[in-house]
Amino acid sequence: MFFGVNFRVQKQGFGVVKVNRVFSGIQPTGEIHIGNYVGAIREWVRLVDLYDCIYCVVDYHAITVEYPVEELAKRTIDTALILIACGLVPEKCKVFVQSAVPEHTELAWIFNCITPVGDLERMTQFKDKAKQHRKNVNMGLMDYPVLQAADILIYKAGIVPVGEDQVQHIELSREIARKFNSRFKTIFPEPKALLSRAPRILGLDGKSKMSKTLNNYIGILEEEKSIWEKLKVAVTDTNRVRRYDKGNPHLCNVFTIHTAFTEDEVLMEIENGCKTASIGCIDCKKVLLEKMVRELVPIREKVEKLKGEIGYVKEVLHISAQRCREIARATMHEVREALGLLNLHFKDLQTLK
Ligand code: TRP
Repeated sequence: MFFGVNFRVQKQGFGVVKVNRVFSGIQPTGEIHIGNYVGAIREWVRLVDLYDCIYCVVDYHAITVEYPVEELAKRTIDTALILIACGLVPEKCKVFVQSAVPEHTELAWIFNCITPVGDLERMTQFKDKAKQHRKNVNMGLMDYPVLQAADILIYKAGIVPVGEDQVQHIELSREIARKFNSRFKTIFPEPKALLSRAPRILGLDGKSKMSKTLNNYIGILEEEKSIWEKLKVAVTDTNRVRRYDKGNPHLCNVFTIHTAFTEDEVLMEIENGCKTASIGCIDCKKVLLEKMVRELVPIREKVEKLKGEIGYVKEVLHISAQRCREIARATMHEVREALGLLNLHFKDLQTLK
């Protein structure tokens, strides 16, 4: 179902084109690996010309596990900076920090009151994280997906570009929207996950998901030398032991990474070369290095430049947050009204859409 506020109406030629809203979030790790980049950020960039896009550095999500307090603000800025450097520029979309729009947590509280505890206990990510952080299984960790639902729904976003691991959370957001709409008033769209067209890149061990914690990643800001050190020893098709063994690219994580960085013609050569053993794994990795560097170096240069313009970055975050806040406050007004709360203080916002 389509909702009024969910669309920006653009006049184009003879008629109007309705544009759906996109929302997505990223944790402020301060360092982004090629898995995040290919699976999320690069897709986000693709969407800015097609939709009204809002991208958020989710610092309130980050505090659900232990973290170095003195580093959080820096990591948040660094993450935002990378997003901007990758092409999520203020002329095309909004990039802001979650804690700057307190309505997210306000809506999360309301969603808490319609979300069964059992649904949250069943979340795969919660179960995994609860295992990893046995000593700190806090309410926030369990409530993480509810805050995520609030992030999306406060903007009535209908499209959520995420990796496969987030599908279960988006499904929960849909359920929360459905439940809210049927119990109170139809306010929210049921958001859909938009999966990246890129293949899922595993860590360099070829086994687990690429992650900073498992130290099996390549960061998008890494220097060529350090990328090569890691790539050199990255696990390939484990059945290909000797140079003259024929490989199976479809069982090889390095080849999967190739598909994300390398153009089709070269990819076909690599694929054939591997299958016929006319090239070895190191040859294949060298080409990959070249293709990765080609794409990542301009990003690193842009990041370096922006580091000298922190005032500008903060300004971008500030202005985006202000705009987001207007939308968020208007939604909260509707929500309070629907819940039957006394909504006196917010009368001035009634006309804000
Ligand atoms: N949970 C997401 C992740 O770890 C981050 C996130 C928070 C998010 N809020 C969101 C993603 C809203 C999409 C929409 O990747």
